[in-house]
Amino acid sequence: MAFMKRVIGNWKMHKTVPETKKFLEEVLQTLPPKEVYLAVPFTAIAAAASFGIHVGSQNIAAAAEGPFTGEIAARMVKDVGAAFSLIGHSERRHVFGEKEGDVRCKILQAIEQTLTPVLCVGEKLGEDFKEVLKRQLSSALENIEVGKLSALMIAYEPVWAIGTGKSASPDDAAKAHAFCREILTDLFDSNFAAHVPLLYGGSVSVDNLPSLLACSQVNGVLVGGASLVPATFVKLAQIARAVVS
Ligand code: PGA
Repeated sequence: MAFMKRVIGNWKMHKTVPETKKFLEEVLQTLPPKEVYLAVPFTAIAAAASFGIHVGSQNIAAAAEGPFTGEIAARMVKDVGAAFSLIGHSERRHVFGEKEGDVRCKILQAIEQTLTPVLCVGEKLGEDFKEVLKRQLSSALENIEVGKLSALMIAYEPVWAIGTGKSASPDDAAKAHAFCREILTDLFDSNFAAHVPLLYGGSVSVDNLPSLLACSQVNGVLVGGASLVPATFVKLAQIARAVVS
């Protein structure tokens, strides 16, 4: 299975609307909009979408609508131009206490609104990655009709690698991704498993990206810190453009 290797930026809680516009004006001098994937704060989605790039939210609510003060529904982010959403990012799970049941509801909401779900999974330091990946993937996806998951992407992000400067080695990332495909095969079938793009995330940089993307198991990356600086983001996208496997 050949994948276009994607670089998805995750801005976390960074950048206002003017800062978003400034970033994109700079980046789009070099990159075509269709090569730019960014998960931006809710407030910057509409501005980012007006540039014709792939825009995502970093979270969505577990319900369609209702008395949930401070929450933002899938339909709302879709309405202002989001095409995808991160779901179950480690900061949502471990800083904000998001439960596996919530993650599953959010996947279902994304499907309902035809918003591409980017399901984030990964173990904490000292945890058995296989045990965690099996639990997180199964609880989020099992018994969902396979036809409804055709847009699904999965980001393997070991918690210990996020924002620490300590990326997983390409070998370890490849092993974790191969294991994700095994779980997807068990939950669905091998054809589906082969078609789900698997991204690696956790301290991706211009220096380690070439060796990570050289692994056929790594179909792209989810990048936090290094996606915030226009020149760095451009370099990451250019590195990815050169690789197809
Ligand atoms: P990082 O973040 O690249 O800053 O480690 C990755 C992420 O949280 O998605």
